[in-house]
Amino acid sequence: MSSEGKDLVKVRDGGVPIAALTAYDYPTARLLDEAGTDLILTGDSLGMVVLGHEDTTHVTLEEMRHHTRAARRGVKRALFVSDLPYKTYETPEQAVDSARQLRADGADAVKLEGGADVAEQIRAIIADGIPVFGHLGMLPQHILEEGRYKKKGKSEAEAQHLLAEALLLDQLGVRGMVLESMFRRVAREITAAVSVPTIGIGAGHGCDGQILVTHDLIGAFPWFCPPFAKPKTDVAGATSQAVRDYIDDVRSTTTVTSGAATSLR
Ligand code: KIV
Repeated sequence: MSSEGKDLVKVRDGGVPIAALTAYDYPTARLLDEAGTDLILTGDSLGMVVLGHEDTTHVTLEEMRHHTRAARRGVKRALFVSDLPYKTYETPEQAVDSARQLRADGADAVKLEGGADVAEQIRAIIADGIPVFGHLGMLPQHILEEGRYKKKGKSEAEAQHLLAEALLLDQLGVRGMVLESMFRRVAREITAAVSVPTIGIGAGHGCDGQILVTHDLIGAFPWFCPPFAKPKTDVAGATSQAVRDYIDDVRSTTTVTSGAATSLR
């Protein structure tokens, strides 16, 4: 793990909150790294914002490996984490095998979704010497069972369950945990209870840091943006405008020689 990455734990001693973002390719990873992002994640959100799938359950380990290698080339300074995709950590053995592959591709740590249901997998990966980040709350890889994306921790029972899961992850030795789409009081309670940094997404401002899908931050995926993400720029709009200008330029400056204007199809 990079030395900066190890320093993430300092946030617990009153340090600077963690600013984390996703990257799936070299130029984005390099831009994020050079701008000072603390943690860069090649997330399996890849499936939706890059590969055009409905949800993250279609992402394969091969696809994660390909994009992990590309993003890794752009990260010199930040902690670099990669997601274990859907059904690649069903058993401790499979989890270790998958984590080793992402590690070989340059991930400083791997992230996986769940608590007690994946405790043996987390234990095995850590025992193999690979740092792990947990992920609790709304779990995108569970969309097929749950049917919709729902904010977690509304009832006291659900809040207590999430807290117990977070304490378990902490006890297992994760380096940190993502808390996704949960009621802010629950995320705050978890953050106060665990010894490692919590990184929130749609979980309020009481975590040790925040993570966003970069496309949501820069307005690069205009067809869907979660309500908690406030785009800071409009890359999609700028791209569409540049493309329209280019089309106009081509059409107004290119002379078509007779006979060449046949259909492209
Ligand atoms: O896949 C992903 O991008 C993630 C973040 C949203 C935390 O897991």
